[in-house]
Amino acid sequence: MTSLLHRSAVAALVLLLCPLVPSPSTCAAKSPGAASPGASLSDPSTEKKIDELIRKMTLEEKVGQLVQYSAGQPTGPGTGRTDYDDMVRKGEVGALFNITIAHQVNAFQHIAVEQSRLHIPLLFGLDVIHGFRTEFPIPLGLASSWNTELIEQTARVAAREASASGIRWTFSPMVDIARDARWGRMTEGAGEDPFLGSAIARAYVRGYQGARLDAPDSIAACVKHFVGYGAAEGGRDYNSTEISEHTLRQYYLPPFRAAIDEGAATIMSAFNALNAVPASANPFTLTQILRKEWGFQGIVDSDFTSVAELIPHGIANDGATAARKAFLAGVDMDMVSSLYHDHLVQLVRSGEVPEAAVDESVRRVLRVKFALGLFEHPFTDESKEAGSFLHPDSVMLARTAAEQSFVLLKNANVGSSPLLPLSGNTKTIALIGPLAGDKGNMLGSWAGLGRPQDVVTLRAALNQRIGAQNVHYAKGTEFVTGTDDQLAEAVKAAQQSDVAVLALGEDAPKMTGEAASRAFLGLPGRQEELLEKIVATGKPVVLLIFSGRPLTLPWAFEHVPAVMAVWFPGIQAGPALVRTLFGDANPNGRLDVSWPRSVGQEPLYYNALSTGRPPGAGVVPAEKKYVSRYIDEQNSPQFPFGFGLSYTTFRYSDLHVDKTRLSAKSLNEELDGRDSKQGAVLTASVNVTNTGTRAGVETVQCYLRLQGTSTAQPVRALTKFQRITLAPGETQKVSFLLGSSAFAIWNDQQKFAAEPAKVTLWMAPDSSQGAQATLEIMK
Ligand code: NOJ
Repeated sequence: MTSLLHRSAVAALVLLLCPLVPSPSTCAAKSPGAASPGASLSDPSTEKKIDELIRKMTLEEKVGQLVQYSAGQPTGPGTGRTDYDDMVRKGEVGALFNITIAHQVNAFQHIAVEQSRLHIPLLFGLDVIHGFRTEFPIPLGLASSWNTELIEQTARVAAREASASGIRWTFSPMVDIARDARWGRMTEGAGEDPFLGSAIARAYVRGYQGARLDAPDSIAACVKHFVGYGAAEGGRDYNSTEISEHTLRQYYLPPFRAAIDEGAATIMSAFNALNAVPASANPFTLTQILRKEWGFQGIVDSDFTSVAELIPHGIANDGATAARKAFLAGVDMDMVSSLYHDHLVQLVRSGEVPEAAVDESVRRVLRVKFALGLFEHPFTDESKEAGSFLHPDSVMLARTAAEQSFVLLKNANVGSSPLLPLSGNTKTIALIGPLAGDKGNMLGSWAGLGRPQDVVTLRAALNQRIGAQNVHYAKGTEFVTGTDDQLAEAVKAAQQSDVAVLALGEDAPKMTGEAASRAFLGLPGRQEELLEKIVATGKPVVLLIFSGRPLTLPWAFEHVPAVMAVWFPGIQAGPALVRTLFGDANPNGRLDVSWPRSVGQEPLYYNALSTGRPPGAGVVPAEKKYVSRYIDEQNSPQFPFGFGLSYTTFRYSDLHVDKTRLSAKSLNEELDGRDSKQGAVLTASVNVTNTGTRAGVETVQCYLRLQGTSTAQPVRALTKFQRITLAPGETQKVSFLLGSSAFAIWNDQQKFAAEPAKVTLWMAPDSSQGAQATLEIMK
């Protein structure tokens, strides 16, 4: 195990291993004095204070720092212990979570700081996932904006609000790569791509942790779930995962690495078994990769009872063994299961766990507490709490975030022009569906302190926009039940109106998020039937899909003229939707996951390998046999990763790459010696023109394919993207500077390196098309 007492040795190891890792900024982020928030984790004067404190601690007090309980609303199965005051007083607890009110936080903190022997403050955590009180769109929606600055701002607001309630630690961001829409937790992440996911992971960490962790409005991030949790077999939550080292290194690990490089102070070990070794007792990922290769100095927290779950996993037959295995693998803190509390002291006394290892874990916990400034300022100013929530700027940001999260999937002509934005002649609207007037669902499945009363619904916003007398509202159906009378009422509402807007989808708390995997991905209950009945009226229909994942709706995509994925948009759902429907806002979200045609395609992701028998592009003719295909479904998604329409149109022209040859040798020299000043080895540019009549945002995407390498590479991999705003008729040249890391792959020597290859580069509006150039990487 890496000894954090020997930081110079760690630094040397990190320097040695950095060349093996693709992220260009890695080594810089770890260098002394680097200006990342993580740098404050390893301040030498703090290490001295930690030394002094550890010297004074009894073994029981040391173990106490590694114990965490949920003292509020549970977010998983409990252990039945509720004597928190007593445990805190005795120094038996290092962290509490799920307490959400400043005076309750302060009450516990007073016990810890004033009544425990060494006065060590507690760390208070919570799942602040997409906002605290000001709820933004769900993370999958936020990520659909492809706007990292916006996401950083939302995380900053969340940090300000949460810290006002005394919470200085969030179990976010979830950076699990999610390739399977059956998995309910797809809703909590940034989708399927490691490059986009890494950029977004960094944005969250910057937003939560701010410029300095010890600022009172900064909160420590906890990047989760390390690792592979999103690859649950069959998309069933908590299920096992089998991920080769190649796939782990090239696709699943990069967003974690990015978050750590950005300074994330803590990380959470996952529930799943990874290649038969549970992730919460996995020395390869927790010690070899995280500590030794990446030099991570913060806390590894277990997921909720994941230490105790080593028993049902089958790698421990009793609590003591589970605690020993998790701890020695690299889990510093035990969330809820109480097995460290119950067994770690004895495990040290019996010699099964070295006390030095306990000291190292305690050091990491204290390091984060010092970095947060908790020793100097343990309490929260209760008088400022209420005034910190729902600041008008935060609410405005929630509206902007919602608008940027919407992905317009289809916008066919009705008459001579696209149905959206709705024309000024639209006088009456039938507003139909279980989500049209629903407040709670707008907050998604995991809403911190978000309250339904903070939500402005689509119904309320539409009433305000065109007058309640012009909105013919009918719920039409419940989520899973619904009567013939309800359906008939909705049909009547449509018949009386110029246009029908349907708000259909999932029941967020029940059907999305943790423990909410689905085997069927259609609209639940009678909603599809309702949709078909409304379309049959002949009225123009706009379908708004509220969901935590893409839904398989082939009939809708064929028969409904306008369809928009709106996820769960947060407290400003209504205003954002109405502004978008009427064209005040122009949709610009892009899919961060491939949208399946049918559930049998899952797992479905754009950056797949070609196979030895690729069927070729387009619709595969039925008679084409002995190729990798389904006989009863296309291979292609309904909508590809990166896709999203706008009310305007864009043209790509004049793609230019400034070199047609690169040298693997010089790329590798640069990779080996890279530092934060790593330069561009290739510049690719393209002209993008707004060919429509409205201003709009285009997200220009650069993809690469490498062929001829030692390991098979994906048919495309995102390597850069940029959002640009163009006025009607305006052209902008977009240039991407690609560094050597863009060409590094995890090769057959188990290294990140560049290799000779034929390279195809696309500048594209999504992952299925674009302007294309070729070049070559020579020896
Ligand atoms: C279990 C979830 O997997 C994790 O994401 C969350 O942070 C913890 N519960 C704490 O609530």
